[in-house]
Parts: sequence; C-alpha cells; structure tokens
Amino acid sequence: MSTRAYVARSRTMTSLRVLLVCVLLINGTHQQKDKEEEQFVCPEGTQGNGNFADPATCRRFYQCVDGYPYLNRCPSGLYFDDISKYCTFKAEARCGPIPTTPAPITEVPLDLATKCEPAECQLPYCFCSKDGTLIPGGLDPAETPQMIMLTFDGAVNLNNFDKYKKVFKGKINNPNGCPIKGTFFLSHEYSNYVMVQALAHDGHEIATGTVSQQQGLQDKGYEEWAGEMIGMREILKKFANISRSEIVGARAPFLKPGRNTQFKVLEDFGYIYDSSVGVPPLPIPVWPYTLDYKIAHECKSGTCPTKSFPGLWEIPFNAHYVESFEGGHCPYLDQCVLHNHDANEVFEWLQEDFSRYYEQNRAPYMMPLHTNWFQIKELELGLHKFLKWAADLEDVWFVTMTQSLTWMTDPRPVKALNNYEAWRCDNKELPSAPCNLPNKCALSFKQPDSNFTDTRYMETCSECPNQYPWLGDSGGSGIPGKDNYIPENLKRK
Ligand SMILES: *[C@@H]1O[C@H](CO)[C@@H](O)[C@H](O)[C@H]1NC(C)=O
Ligand SMILES: *[C@@H]1O[C@H](CO)[C@@H](O)[C@H](O)[C@H]1NC(C)=O
Repeated sequence: MSTRAYVARSRTMTSLRVLLVCVLLINGTHQQKDKEEEQFVCPEGTQGNGNFADPATCRRFYQCVDGYPYLNRCPSGLYFDDISKYCTFKAEARCGPIPTTPAPITEVPLDLATKCEPAECQLPYCFCSKDGTLIPGGLDPAETPQMIMLTFDGAVNLNNFDKYKKVFKGKINNPNGCPIKGTFFLSHEYSNYVMVQALAHDGHEIATGTVSQQQGLQDKGYEEWAGEMIGMREILKKFANISRSEIVGARAPFLKPGRNTQFKVLEDFGYIYDSSVGVPPLPIPVWPYTLDYKIAHECKSGTCPTKSFPGLWEIPFNAHYVESFEGGHCPYLDQCVLHNHDANEVFEWLQEDFSRYYEQNRAPYMMPLHTNWFQIKELELGLHKFLKWAADLEDVWFVTMTQSLTWMTDPRPVKALNNYEAWRCDNKELPSAPCNLPNKCALSFKQPDSNFTDTRYMETCSECPNQYPWLGDSGGSGIPGKDNYIPENLKRK
C-alpha cells in the first residue's frame, strides 16, 4: 500500500472510531450473524467505508470497513439515524435506509480470494489444496513426519511457569536427539517477562497474542489490531529482550480472527503466520496453508479473512474429538470435557484423537493449551503420558510453529530428517538468558474505561517503566497514546 493510501486509511479509521466509540463502549456486545453480514453489500461510492442502516431494522446498522460489512447493534433503547449515522433516541432517529445520490451500486467486491489453483500455487511461496487435506510435496503419509506442536496461550507467570517447564523437562527428545520445544502466544496482563525471557532462552518460540485480550476485537479496525498485536511485540522486545525478528506468529483472542483487518496488520508488520482460524470437526484434518486463495474449509468463527494475503500462512485449529464423541469436540484441548477422566483415560483419548492424523494424512497435530489444563492433575498426568508415548514413535517430531512451516516450504521424507538443518538444536543462537536480579516493578494501572487506578506487578530485567504498559503505551511511559506503529513496508521506503 502506498504511503498516501495508508494515511487516508488511518484518517478514515480514526473518524470511524470516534464515531463508534460511544456506541461500542456502551454496547460491548458484538454480533456473530455472519450470514446477514455477508448479504449486506457496502455501497461502492463511499470507497466501502462508513456506517449504513440495516434495511431490516432501525436497531442495527452496518459498519463498512474497506468494503466489508460488520453488523452492529445500537445500545439498548437507541436507534440508528441514517442521516447523522449514529445511534440516538427513538424520537430523533431517522430510520433508514435513506437513499443517497448517487444511488449505491450494489456489486460484490472484486478482490475476494479465489478458489485454490494448485498449478499456480507452488512451494515455497504458496500452498493450498482443494479440500485442505493434501500433504505438501506429494509425499506419501508413510514418509511424512508426524509433527506435533505444543502451544500455550495467555500470560506466563508463577501460576503456570513451572508446569510449562515440566512439560519439556521429561527427557523427551526428537529422533535427532534434540529436546522438544513449544510455542507460546503471549498476552500481556499478569505476564512475568523474566519467565518469558527464560522460555525464549530455552529455545521455545515466542509469538504474540494481544495486550488486553479484549472481547469483540474481531470487529475493530486497523489501529486497534496494530495496538494489540504490534503493541504486544513491542512489550516483549522492551521487557523480555526478544527481538522483533524473532516474533513472526500471531493468534487472535477467543479464536476470533479479525477478518481482513487483522491479516492486513500481520502482512504490513512482517509476520509469517497466523494461528486463529478454527476448523469444524472433520474426518480428515487439514494442513496449514497460505492465504493466497480462498480458505478451503468452513470458517467456524465466521470472521476469517476473505481477501488474498499472498504468502501469509495460516496454521488452523483442527477440532479435537474422538469417534464416540466422548468429551465433545474442541479447538483448545482444555475445552473438551475430560476433567472427570483419570490420567489413563486422558492418555487414551489423546491417542485416539492423534491417530486421526497419524494414520491418515499426517497433518501437524497441534496441541493448544491454556493454563487451565494444568490445574487438573489427571489432565496434566495424561498429557505427560501421551508425550512420552508419542516421542517413542520414530516418525514423530515435536516442533515449533515456525519449524513446522519451514518443513512445509521444503518437504522432506522422514528418512532425510536426522540432519535436517532447521530442526537441529546445536546450531542456534538463542536469545540471551535473563538476569539474576530482575526488577520487581509495582506499577499503577488505569484501564481506559475505568474510574480507579489499580496496581500491577511486573518482573523484568529491563528498567521499571513509569506505568503499567498498555494499549497505546507499550513502553509504559505514562503518556497515553504514545505509540504510533508504522508498517514495515512503509519504513523501508
Ligand atoms: C538483549 O539481547 C541482545 C541480543 O541477544 C544481547 O546482546 C543483549 O545483551 C541483551 N540485553 C540484555 C539487557 O540482556
Ligand atoms: C465512573 O464515575 C462516574 C461518575 O462518578 C460514574 O457515573 C460511572 O458509573 C463510573 N464508572 C465506572 C466504570 O465505575
């Protein structure tokens, strides 16, 4: 995007935001009626931006951002005024749609991603298949390594650090003798950055969740997404000394990707992959894919990107379940109902779930966990059992998200992996170890929509900031709105 286009977009987004702040803040509820959203077509004469009346009811309106309609509801008791374009009292609201001149041209946006074209989509830059289940490089399942990716979401702190470390301390190694590693999607609040730095130093991959883990982020604009995700990356750099170039993956909160907006931010800020898209329970799991083409599976959240983002990878959440549906099905493992099971039953459940991958197309088996899993002894023990068992299979490799994608861009058979450069552990420069005497910072923290000031404790090897770092102020300077993120592709010019 040109600089001018970016500035123009920022202005539009700012004015939109100002207009909507009152509505969204009071309201706080966000709609999931994506069918209706898809049917509404944003008027073309407006460059696809602005607020538009819902033809069906005066209680709702559509917020169009870059031509995509997001359904919004007026706060209780208010109605959408199609002249002033905001919600107001019933007596004052002029219900729409009120025709404008020129009449809006209703046409489907032209830049939607199209169906996968395998002939056009070649590794290492592009990967897709008709139903998403094909193995890259045309390998047979038997010669495809079964990758397992352990991922952890949320804050890292005293409540979970030792439990997380224990997962990796069970002397579990890959076939090349390297200890296994995981991927951590960090969110900010309550995170201990000395512990985060220790994880990075141990060779785990650090990726970004969001600063505030706010609900309803999927409906927000470019600046909010940049503030949440790029802000989180800045916090990790400043307080855990993890360089920006190490952080290449992102995950949206609550499995609600932010439509095209989030992916535009990831593209603009040099990310390699996202992992936020949920797949419904399918008999054969899907492989990660690039977003050059239309997503090949149903979008479970209804908020997936619809445009093409060439070369940006998606590592989707296949649903976890067993044949009998005991435990239900879940994207995150701790969301399946297994807490009434003993450790052996948990182990067997994981084995059966895993066999759907291992015995079919060997799509990477992602094991997404929250701290919740480790609150229940049986679940924790069952997991440890499963990891030991899986590590004994000679074609199973535990990899980080980035390692799995590196293999996918250049697929090699199992027998050629023992010296595979990207999966070795003796050739890496790891981030520096945390200090011995970290700062324990007691910081004042005022949520933007709250009346009182709280205290948050934050440990870091860096200097204590003035205030608790937050959206718009990742450095904790105490100056609200200090941050101003400039996309990498603009910086280079
Ligand atoms: C931060 O990381 C860099 C690169 O790993 C290292 O050279 C530097 O010493 C680290 N700084 C601190 C304060 O640990
Ligand atoms: C903040 O204070 C105002 C005025 O005292 C009050 O009306 C409002 O409810 C308070 N908001 C919160 C979130 O406590």
